[in-house]
Amino acid sequence: MAVEQLPARNPAPPPTRVVDSGYALFEGNIVPFSQAQVSIGTHALNYGTACFEGIRGYWNSEQEQLYLLKLPEHYQRFLKSSRLLKMRLTQTVESLCEVTREIVRRDGYRSDVYVRPLAYKSSAIIKVDLHSPEDAIAIFAVPMGDYARTDGLRVTISSWRRISDNSIPARAKITGAYVNTALAAEDAHAAGYDDCLMLTEDGHIAEGSAANFFMLQGRTLTTPPVTDDILVGITRGAVMRLALDLDLELVERSVDRTEVYQADEAFLCGTGVQVAPIVEVDGRPIGSGSPGAVALSLQEAYFRAVRGNDPRYRHWCSPVYRITESR
Ligand SMILES: Cc1ncc(COP(=O)(O)O)c(C=O)c1O
Repeated sequence: MAVEQLPARNPAPPPTRVVDSGYALFEGNIVPFSQAQVSIGTHALNYGTACFEGIRGYWNSEQEQLYLLKLPEHYQRFLKSSRLLKMRLTQTVESLCEVTREIVRRDGYRSDVYVRPLAYKSSAIIKVDLHSPEDAIAIFAVPMGDYARTDGLRVTISSWRRISDNSIPARAKITGAYVNTALAAEDAHAAGYDDCLMLTEDGHIAEGSAANFFMLQGRTLTTPPVTDDILVGITRGAVMRLALDLDLELVERSVDRTEVYQADEAFLCGTGVQVAPIVEVDGRPIGSGSPGAVALSLQEAYFRAVRGNDPRYRHWCSPVYRITESR
């Protein structure tokens, strides 16, 4: 079996557990995390009627500053997702950014973090629709390091298809849709792979289980278009900017499965996985079978940018601490 032929490697990073400390925005107030609790009747818990974001914060020890990456962009997508679920939220992008900085400041983290905003149908009612339940917002943050390996992923093509725009739209980050991710990721991990690529119903590459996909052919970097059932990743946008600044050609088009097998390089990118080279797909080496030079350059450029160490991309980074507090 393909899995038994794989040589031993360092273990993948363990899952991040939510720590029961720090603060959360809950029912309009910032409260201790342990007090932010919902009823088992909550609509979102019963029917998956919530949407969320995942936002990373990077600690810069020289600057003693914690930078939240692309904070307004995440909240713009958050509000768009919420509108798809007919939520009537009154918060603005600016107010959500501000309260997020306030929560993380109160947490006092001096490490990399992950922020989880959640907008959910909060009423404890038994009725499956979108307009009957009330809407609510919660936000909390946890310390988080690497979430997936960044030294070369071995992936498989999932037998689960990516949810399509006319079933559950992938472009919104809807909690219920992550059953699709969990099914695919579970089977990939059980078979010994680090992750998987998911196909659209018509058989094109959509994305990884929770990350966007890029492949390199010569100097051309190709990624599936927004109409191929992807979450339009914030990291995808950042990588596209970095790629253009590295003088790569950029193409958004549908990608056949076997193009991936023949690509010079491939990688996944997302808030969680960051920029993670793919070295093998279903036992077939990609390029040389080790992380490619372009993927590694993009990874390096990304890590420099997100920690606030590249002035060209400093506007991607929202500082959490006021200068006097952080020193
Ligand atoms: C299904 C899916 N695709 C892609 C991504 C990447 O999106 P982003 O870069 O905005 O985190 C994510 C989130 O991490 C995701 O859950």
